Amino acid sequence: MDYIDLRSDTVTTPTPEMREAMAEAEVGDDVYRDDPTVNHLEDLAAKMLGKEAALFVPSGTMGNLIALLVHCQRGHEVIVGNQSHIYLNEAGGMSALGGIQPCPVQNQPDGTLALEDILSSIRTEDVHHPTTRLICLENTQNICGGAPLTVAYTHQVGELARQNELYLHIDGARIFNSAVAQNVSVKELVEPADSVMFCLSKGLAAPVGSILVGTQTFIGRARHIRKMLGGGMRQVGVLAAAGIISLKKMTKRLDDDHARAKNLADGLRQINGLVVDQNSPYTNMVYLNLADQVHANTEQITQKMKDQGVLVDPENSRRFRLVTHYLIDDRAVEKVVAGFQKVLR
Ligand SMILES: Cc1ncc(COP(=O)(O)O)c(C=O)c1O
Repeated sequence: MDYIDLRSDTVTTPTPEMREAMAEAEVGDDVYRDDPTVNHLEDLAAKMLGKEAALFVPSGTMGNLIALLVHCQRGHEVIVGNQSHIYLNEAGGMSALGGIQPCPVQNQPDGTLALEDILSSIRTEDVHHPTTRLICLENTQNICGGAPLTVAYTHQVGELARQNELYLHIDGARIFNSAVAQNVSVKELVEPADSVMFCLSKGLAAPVGSILVGTQTFIGRARHIRKMLGGGMRQVGVLAAAGIISLKKMTKRLDDDHARAKNLADGLRQINGLVVDQNSPYTNMVYLNLADQVHANTEQITQKMKDQGVLVDPENSRRFRLVTHYLIDDRAVEKVVAGFQKVLR
């Protein structure tokens, strides 16, 4: 059965054009820097994000970890959102592998960290304290509804970081969704950041891979740590070829995903038994709860939706996240709304 899969934008499969480019990719040993397709992807990514250099990495998690390991030493502390992917969903890599301590700061409903909260979390010079070294932002902020952080806010955090001699890293897994939703360039959005990670393998539909960008010096050290973590890859131009299409083509169609997420939310708002978050969607994620009068929990509804041919992702026993992407067309949106209508009747 062909399911309509709204669990995540990570379920996207490579487009026919990507498969063709992958088959024809010119390749070499990338650890020797001999893979022309990887070199092209890295040059293109650096240019699009307005940074000196880029590094192709196997996953977003590894990209974030490498950034933290470059910026920090053992005993350093990182200010992160308490709802951030780095803090909640990267297996504690910074502590386990880097001896780095997270300092979680409450994410506001719009995905930001309040400037006063960041400021008050910066450690003072004291022999008892860890040393604050880095601030991490997540844009779009996944758990806060796929909320995009603005250029103005990012500049404020960048300024605060500079004044306090801290680095700024952006987990921009979906930074292109953020840029498109706000009609700004991705370059402007990340200008204040020392490093940015973004994913090719989510809404941009590449099968594998993320990119880390920063200065030449930063990326030089990142390349060394990628090798240390076992992430040095060989004829990986077969994957980079798909990533080039992600950047050139798939970044230009994210508006469609956002429009469909909006149609989906509008449709679901008409259904008794569902309570769609007030501001949802900001980008390609629709968050909703089961209304109090619904006795079934999300696990039971998920199974019933599966019987209707629709895969959804329960966040907890009352809450769902539904994600649109290039495999979700207008007809799929209609079917999902009809599916929920039937299941909740
Ligand atoms: C905000 C955010 N950051 C980082 C990641 C990690 O990416 P990966 O799954 O490629 O490790 C994800 C993955 O879903 C994410 O949503």
